[in-house]
Amino acid sequence: MQFKFSSLAEALKPSEIRELLKYVSVPGLISFGGGMPHPSSFPVDDIANITAALLKEKGKQLLQYGSTPGYEELRIQLVNMLKKTENISANKDLIALTPGSQSALYSLSKILSSPGDEVICEAPTYLGTISAFRANGTVMRGIPMDENGIKTEMLEDKIKSMVSSGKPPKFIYLIPTFQNPSGISLSLDRRKHVLELVSKYQIPVIEDNPYAELRYSGKRIASLKSMDTEGLVIYLGTFSKILSPGLRLGFTFGPEPVISKMNLLKQATNLATNTLAEAIAAEYLKRGLMDKNMPKVISMYREKRDTMLNSLQENFGDEASWSHPDGGMFLWLSLNGKINTTTMLKRALENKIAYVSGSAFYPEKAETNNMRLNFTYSDNNQIVDGIGRLASVAKEELSVVA
Ligand SMILES: Cc1ncc(COP(=O)(O)O)c(C=O)c1O
Repeated sequence: MQFKFSSLAEALKPSEIRELLKYVSVPGLISFGGGMPHPSSFPVDDIANITAALLKEKGKQLLQYGSTPGYEELRIQLVNMLKKTENISANKDLIALTPGSQSALYSLSKILSSPGDEVICEAPTYLGTISAFRANGTVMRGIPMDENGIKTEMLEDKIKSMVSSGKPPKFIYLIPTFQNPSGISLSLDRRKHVLELVSKYQIPVIEDNPYAELRYSGKRIASLKSMDTEGLVIYLGTFSKILSPGLRLGFTFGPEPVISKMNLLKQATNLATNTLAEAIAAEYLKRGLMDKNMPKVISMYREKRDTMLNSLQENFGDEASWSHPDGGMFLWLSLNGKINTTTMLKRALENKIAYVSGSAFYPEKAETNNMRLNFTYSDNNQIVDGIGRLASVAKEELSVVA
């Protein structure tokens, strides 16, 4: 039968990154494409022990439907974690558990905007957010970034022009720390500027913060939420990068009306999150295992980041530029302006090297000579080989297009 889809469903398109994941299993392919943790970061034995103990103690409760707001013990543990890591004073009743923060992004754009409404974000921004917002018809307006994050003077101008046209942005979406895709962090001064702006114009801001625990150098920068005195910041966190993305567990801490609406929407979409996964995460935090595992993960990722930075320097020298992130999972590589990285991807895959081209991360007009490189998933020798291959591919491509 010929299905007739809704206009929002018609707008859904497969993303380059999901397409790329198909190639991850091609023998010999080195992928800097996905945003995946390294498999050895997963505390498999700890999770096995916790799961066995939980099933023995309260298996009948944990295999039952859970409550909509989510497993209470996990929300209590998250209050403690947010205080310790981000100096955020949360309240367990204002935390909504979601199947990953991806789901929270979808829910928030659904409850805070109607189709056609405009919101502001960094350009480039996280590809998954572009998909989530697009699925709700939310229109994203991107503001350029430099090495200190989103240019807040331009953000201010954009807000002013939208306000004066009678259509202020419904919200601002930011990834202030180790941004996906650029790896860049928003400076403290600019964070304060963002807070002044959202306070002045009374605009909510979504702070998406999956990477802050993955810091390899430099000093922690205060999160927007920890400086939010007016309840304008909606804070998103996830277990995907610090424990396991397979558990599909994210959390939102925000003002009561927002959390209530998210929970109502949850009743319409998935009733409750995975109770067993919630209980595993709660027990993992309660036993202090996060504190035990993270230093090992951080030192492994620091080495990978440094390996990639050194390989880029050796292979590209002055022929390209790239970000030098203090943490997270990604580098942003900018090649000669004549190269279109989307066109070049075919040549790269033929040479068994994968990346995500930068244009995928722009909600509006895209720059075409960039790419995002993930440094956490590959082994160090693959990083060295992969950057070497990438440099040869870029050289060949330039010789054709120049
Ligand atoms: C900035 C950002 N937000 C949200 C997500 C979604 O994470 P998850 O749904 O696994 O919690 C990701 C995943 O890569 C991300 O990079």
